[in-house]
Amino acid sequence: MVNDRRPDDMVRITTKELAQAFIDEQIAALREQIGTKKVLLALSGGVDSSVVAAMLIKAVGQQLVCVHVNHGLLRKGEPEQVIEVFRNQMKANLVYVDATDRFLDKLAGVTDPETKRKIIGGEFIEVFAEEARKLDGIEFLAQGTIWPDILESEKGIKAHHNAGGLPEDMKFELVEPVKILFKDEVRIVGECLGLPANMVYRQPFPGPGLGVRCPGAITRDRLEAVREADAILREEFAKHGLEGKVWQYFTVVPDFKSTGIRDGKRTFEWPVIIRAVNTQDAMTAEVENIPFDLMQLLVKRITSEVKGVNRVLYDFTPKPSATIEYE
Ligand code: XMP
Repeated sequence: MVNDRRPDDMVRITTKELAQAFIDEQIAALREQIGTKKVLLALSGGVDSSVVAAMLIKAVGQQLVCVHVNHGLLRKGEPEQVIEVFRNQMKANLVYVDATDRFLDKLAGVTDPETKRKIIGGEFIEVFAEEARKLDGIEFLAQGTIWPDILESEKGIKAHHNAGGLPEDMKFELVEPVKILFKDEVRIVGECLGLPANMVYRQPFPGPGLGVRCPGAITRDRLEAVREADAILREEFAKHGLEGKVWQYFTVVPDFKSTGIRDGKRTFEWPVIIRAVNTQDAMTAEVENIPFDLMQLLVKRITSEVKGVNRVLYDFTPKPSATIEYE
């Protein structure tokens, strides 16, 4: 049997050899726990759930059913990458649900940040539960719980993670193969399992996704502007060697317009705000010093390529006084 808690003397997984030993041990334990039964996993494409998926595919193959819910608030290319990596390359049993309209219809006109978060979280559980009900014979629910989640829930900082919220009648036994690992260990294990580096080493991304980067009521056009501007920022950061160096970087499109000029004509469009910060633990954060040339390139690309945008602003504010996200 595997450990339920991280042993005090557990060696930190820092090498591929240590990661491989952990994987071998977990795969044996997973096979023993699951037998010939079926396991369900909500696969967001984030590091933790992706590593759990890759591990379970190795351990029980087609007995794993992954459900990827696209809430319409993901970054450009994310759902496509989940399908490519898990369905096409790893041959996973993947159910892809495009629930964009459902989420955006529910969020229409909602301005309060916490209400937005509640709607997104609640709707997610509903869509996931609906998919689970369509499947026969599921006995296990896999989760990407990691060791800091357990510590934080014990200290009362975080409500107990992912499973929380599923309807009462849906009782599954939990499968949590990375629950004694720290984040850096999960990444090495993920690399060892053959996941792409940009999936394993990706920057943090909030559960409510681009929804919190579209302050106030989310509209489809402003959401599209956030997504496109974010894709340009990520592309240029990668080209300029900042990917993996800067802790978190993204764009925000606030709900106001200002005048501009394009092709000799007056425009009235949104600004894009760029945020790029470094931190150890996300409790405080410092602003990245983006080179001026890169800043100018970003302004040029975003104002010429992103529909409905005529200005680019840079947020110079550390945390505190600002938070990292805008809502
Ligand atoms: P703040 O904005 O509080 O963010 O300085 C600190 C870190 O947490 C992430 N964040 C979230 N992650 N759900 C999440 O899963 C959320 O609702 C949420 N809000 C903020 C944020 O991206 C940053 O890394």
